[in-house]
Amino acid sequence: MIHLSRRHVLTGLATVVAAHHLPSVAFAQAAGPFKLPPLPYAPNTLEPHIDARTMEIHHDRHHAAYVNNMNGFAKDHPTLGQRPIVEILAKLSDVPDAVRTGVRNNLGGHANHSMFWEIMGPGGGKPEGELAAAVTRDLGGMEKFQNDFNGAGGRVFGSGWVFVTVTPEGRLAIEAKPNQDTPLMDGKRVLMGNDVWEHAYYLNYQNRRADYLKACWNVVNWRKVGERYAAAKAGKLTI
Ligand SMILES: [Fe+2]
Repeated sequence: MIHLSRRHVLTGLATVVAAHHLPSVAFAQAAGPFKLPPLPYAPNTLEPHIDARTMEIHHDRHHAAYVNNMNGFAKDHPTLGQRPIVEILAKLSDVPDAVRTGVRNNLGGHANHSMFWEIMGPGGGKPEGELAAAVTRDLGGMEKFQNDFNGAGGRVFGSGWVFVTVTPEGRLAIEAKPNQDTPLMDGKRVLMGNDVWEHAYYLNYQNRRADYLKACWNVVNWRKVGERYAAAKAGKLTI
């Protein structure tokens, strides 16, 4: 056990050291119709719950890679860059065979991460108004909602996401998806979600996904989630 633990620590250190020597943006964005949205806050804003280095790597490398891959696909299939993202994801069967899996993974990843940065922030507060009423009505109140959401995120085997979906009538439901799949692929809309890929938490939490899921509630931007709820009811919510 001691040997395994030591190896584990060394592997972790190597990862941190290697990451430290990389520039903050791993590669320039490929030209094309898909753009990496800037983080709407400084990378250290979510500390101590999500550390700055995790945020930098997650946004500047992982999300950037999905965007760059999409721009690569768009070179050969320019219509990908001309249609709304939600329309492409809702009808992946229209995407050419050669790039369908790539679009599923990378455009799904682009949409998921764009939503994810937006619904986080310095945190505090709680759902208000119609959103608070919907949480009580559809999800059994905040305590049950958070427990059920954390449970669904914890049960994702391997990599994936846990979401709250919202209907045009404002109904809420918890739904988990594997990989970079999203309820957008079923024509639904996403109110909020959490990334349970290891890249989202491994530097700080290692294998303790449950602790990460619990801590993330401290950095939910409820004002933004409330805006997304209103947009969903107005038929204006996209990704
Ligand atoms: Fe991620």
